Amino acid sequence: MNFLVCNTYEEVSQEAAKIFEAQLKAKPDSVLGLATGSTPLGLYRELIRAYQCGGVDFSRVTSINLDEYYPIEPTHEQSYRYFMDTNLFNHININKENTFVPNGKAADPAAESVAYDERVKRLGGIDLQLLGIGENGHIGFNEPSEQLHAGTHVEVLTESTRQANSRFFASLDEVPTHAITMGMTSILTARKIVLLACGKNKHDVVMAMLDDKITTSIPATLLKCHPDMTLLCDNAAFKG
Ligand code: F6R
Repeated sequence: MNFLVCNTYEEVSQEAAKIFEAQLKAKPDSVLGLATGSTPLGLYRELIRAYQCGGVDFSRVTSINLDEYYPIEPTHEQSYRYFMDTNLFNHININKENTFVPNGKAADPAAESVAYDERVKRLGGIDLQLLGIGENGHIGFNEPSEQLHAGTHVEVLTESTRQANSRFFASLDEVPTHAITMGMTSILTARKIVLLACGKNKHDVVMAMLDDKITTSIPATLLKCHPDMTLLCDNAAFKG
């Protein structure tokens, strides 16, 4: 695992943007695995800025997002489809038809999950996967458990995840109880992974990434098995 501590959140975002820009220069038709949440917002702002300056071209990119609440309408302001459109896709020259987020209103979420994995395979896998990390160590919505899923599946969100995400909703009751999330295999088979962890509340989980143990009770620790994984964190997450 490569590990880099930056002074500030802005620096983490800039370093992450450099990795994305290098990826797109090397392979303009990359398949990018994308994440939502507050952490990637700075990176997305950097990528929009780079696009506006002519430094990066998304016209041949395909994106595939990690997860989506279930059930949720794509037009809901807290849906991850809405998040991606408003925070990135609407501001760059990506072809929206090549942007994929699990369908939060699929009538059959199990079938949607199988189709999502098939899509990743048809795309030839993910070239560069962006990840945030839950305070409890979840990756995507793969919540701590004795057993983790390999493939895309419906996950019951833990109370701690619902509490953490309630800051985006009017009340805790409005936070969905389920999500469709990529499983650990799709994530671990990405050719390159960048994991961002910022803020004091991520300190414990960053420490768990830095010790020697791997455990399904902190799903992110499985990423230590990946041959090309970079953890970027800020001082607040490192020092606590
Ligand atoms: C989002 C996702 C989640 C978040 C995690 C951290 O697509 O998959 O695993 O990355 O919950 O969220 P923030 O960045 O809001 O702390």
